[in-house]
Amino acid sequence: MDLIETIKVRKSVRAFKPDAVSRQQIEEILGLVVRAPSAINLQPWEFIVVMGEEKERLSRRLVKLYREKQISCSPGNVKPLSAEFQKRGAESFILMNPYLEKMGQDFNRFVNEGSCNFYGAPAAVIFCLDNAFSEARLVDIGIALGYFVLIAHNFGLSTCPIGLINAYEDDIKEMLNIPDNKDVVIGAALGYADPASPINEFTSPREDLENFVRWID
Ligand SMILES: Cc1cc2nc3c(=O)[nH]c(=O)nc-3n(C[C@H](O)[C@H](O)[C@H](O)COP(=O)(O)O)c2cc1C
Repeated sequence: MDLIETIKVRKSVRAFKPDAVSRQQIEEILGLVVRAPSAINLQPWEFIVVMGEEKERLSRRLVKLYREKQISCSPGNVKPLSAEFQKRGAESFILMNPYLEKMGQDFNRFVNEGSCNFYGAPAAVIFCLDNAFSEARLVDIGIALGYFVLIAHNFGLSTCPIGLINAYEDDIKEMLNIPDNKDVVIGAALGYADPASPINEFTSPREDLENFVRWID
């Protein structure tokens, strides 16, 4: 598929078919993800691919932890958000909720437990960063995530980035045997979208470009 078309139609998917994704397919995707640029070509990313029964085990543990700790998806702000950001956050709920109502699902439960379950995807990819690096290298991981979602789409697969797993980093590290010197940055669900699920009809909007750009010329 043409890159521009892929960018236009890619979206986060929140209901997956149980069909497995082959290791070979994931290898092909990650082999292209690592073509992403990185500072000084450090390629500081590390990917942990969790599939099959291990992925189910991870999901069960994360959902259990969510039920105990009730740490939810959040904007991750360290200062109060401006009215503009608050409005965009609220809009996500307002626009997604009618699709969840069709499914008889409560928004908070669906998004939080769904994130912990990687929305039923057969594969979870955990993006890690060596903690020798400063936060500046999170940029490189973000670029890799951007490549990942687009490349997966190009292969007919769907994704949903899962930032919520950060809240459960210690448990994930223990479960997946991730060494102390690696930080869990973000996860992503990977699989085939369930076209029958109403939530996958939802497409998130974008603000007009003028809200983001300041020209100096
Ligand atoms: C860093 C990051 C973290 C995210 N974390 C979550 C998450 O935990 N759960 C979830 O359902 N979606 C998550 N998302 C998906 C966003 O909600 C989604 O990208 C955004 O609403 C725009 O929609 P789109 O991807 O369909 O264009 C995350 C996206 C990013 C980039």
